[in-house]
Amino acid sequence: MAKSIGEKYKIAVFISGKGSNLKSLINFSKKPKSKFKVNLVISNQRKAKGLIIAKKSKINTKVYNYKYPSVDEINILRFLEKKKIDIICLAGFMKILSKKFIKDFNGKIINIHPSLLPKYKGLNTHARVIDNNEKYSGCTVHFVNSKLDSGRIILQKRLKILKNDTAKTLQKRILLEEHKIYSKALMKILN
Ligand code: GRF
Repeated sequence: MAKSIGEKYKIAVFISGKGSNLKSLINFSKKPKSKFKVNLVISNQRKAKGLIIAKKSKINTKVYNYKYPSVDEINILRFLEKKKIDIICLAGFMKILSKKFIKDFNGKIINIHPSLLPKYKGLNTHARVIDNNEKYSGCTVHFVNSKLDSGRIILQKRLKILKNDTAKTLQKRILLEEHKIYSKALMKILN
């Protein structure tokens, strides 16, 4: 995956929803110091708001409805190969990639998760954190392996939970940190 001087790594971002992390990756990629470029956005939702963000930045987009997941995965892999994608960044992608896909993709796959992994894998992290009266929460960027939210951690940001925090306020504060650490983590693995 090594690149010659000045050549950028090609990133595909997988989304399902609003794409605020996608936006932060695109914004960072425009900085001269960025070692990566967002070349492709893949969504399983035709109406994902993130697709509009991608189009505004003239980034190639593709939608796979996942009616037949294994067929879609084969087509996605082919397309990634055609576009010479080096790294997949999952950013709110609500589908689980199969073991085969992870094995067959010729590159790295990373994900962002809104908790301090290994704690609070899966969905509804903020509500569970608040219910358990945790003192801290945060976000994690990690490599993707075949177990959900379990691959090697690249970067984490810890936040103190405030007295009046609700799942919603916590989610908002953590999301702002996600926007900072995703590009940072990506730059870290490209060094
Ligand atoms: C983020 O909280 C991310 O950690 C999680 O899904 C959410 C996606 O948000 N995996 P957005 O679509 O990037 O705004």
